[in-house]
Amino acid sequence: MAEAALHTSGGAPVVRRLALSDFRNYREARLEADARFVVLTGPNGAGKTNLLEALSLLAPGRGLRRARPRELTRLGAERWTVTARLDTAFGAVDIGTGLGEDDRRAVHVDGAPRRGREGAVAAVWLTPRMDRLFLDGAGARRRFLDRLVLAVDPAHAGRVQAYETAMRQRLALLRAGTADGDWLAALERSMAERGIAVAASRRDLVERLRTALASADGPFPKAQVALAGEVDAWLEEEPALGAEDRLVAALAAGRSRDAESGRTGAGPHRSDLAVADAERGMPAADCSTGEQKALLIALVLASARLAALPPLLLLDDVAAYLDEDRRLALFDEIGRLGCQAWLTGADPATFAPLAGRALNVGIENAVLTPLPPERP
Ligand SMILES: Nc1ncnc2c1ncn2[C@@H]1O[C@H](COP(=O)(O)OP(=O)(O)OP(=O)(O)O)[C@@H](O)[C@H]1O
Ligand SMILES: [Mg+2]
Repeated sequence: MAEAALHTSGGAPVVRRLALSDFRNYREARLEADARFVVLTGPNGAGKTNLLEALSLLAPGRGLRRARPRELTRLGAERWTVTARLDTAFGAVDIGTGLGEDDRRAVHVDGAPRRGREGAVAAVWLTPRMDRLFLDGAGARRRFLDRLVLAVDPAHAGRVQAYETAMRQRLALLRAGTADGDWLAALERSMAERGIAVAASRRDLVERLRTALASADGPFPKAQVALAGEVDAWLEEEPALGAEDRLVAALAAGRSRDAESGRTGAGPHRSDLAVADAERGMPAADCSTGEQKALLIALVLASARLAALPPLLLLDDVAAYLDEDRRLALFDEIGRLGCQAWLTGADPATFAPLAGRALNVGIENAVLTPLPPERP
């Protein structure tokens, strides 16, 4: 365990203890982890993804399945909780979250209540669901991008939420048809300020990602990234204040159309993240399934390299789909990043190269069993 202990001193957050209660298929479960790699293996339906979902709720937002807080309660139980003790750059932190009385998610950090969007730790994940990320609508790509932004800029969650709240309020006023012009104009100004701030922080990340991706070598494809959207184009053309004014004008001009359609026609909620394999100029949507996964991993690793403190990495069923070269490269890169990575798979053999470096946990029917360390 000497090597594992050494890994935890780099400042990246490390989950030391995790406890779930009435969460998904778990009645009560506890786990102690001090290694950089935690490998969770077990049959289909055992509870591997659920455990990663619990970890994803230590970060702000709705977690890796975007479930409503109620849905997370174990069938037949009252309310769920997830508690964790983490080692962070700022010392030990206790995070507790669970279903609150008001059916919202409650979060406590060191015993003090926090709003749901202010997790105390950043986490980035890849799940089998994201296999369709490049094929389906832009919403999932935006959320993926926003998760990467959050890992370097924790204030991003608050900006996105404030923007969406103002957007909902404006639409409700428009739909009600009783809107007072001053009130609408104030909401549109607030949407523009927040919306352009959201677009600007995405833009900043994409630019830094480009640099990080360009310097990456190894078997992962070189990913080319760009923002596609009206407000993103404005930010290319002029400073943020000018882009804000353009968004204000676009919102004011779109009132009757938005009232009718029930959707907001302009703003950063319509932007998309365009990804391509740079070497071939091949759009991600036209890459093979394995290549798409490799592109996603390249993006996640590049963003983790950028963060002052790398996030928790939650990689659900990722390793099994990579060829040997890429799997080894993934493990090595995580090792270099110094962050804690939680990896799942059905077959322990996938993780054989991590022997001696990982805590192996078997999961069967929501019961966690630490497995004896494999020999290197
Ligand atoms: N609220 C809930 N209460 C009880 N059980 C639930 C709840 N939500 C999901 N489950 C069950 O939890 C079980 C484990 O799900 P999970 O997605 O974690 O499996 P897994 O180990 O990741 O499997 P796979 O290898 O197929 O991905 C499933 O049988 C699922 O139906
Ligand atoms: Mg799963």
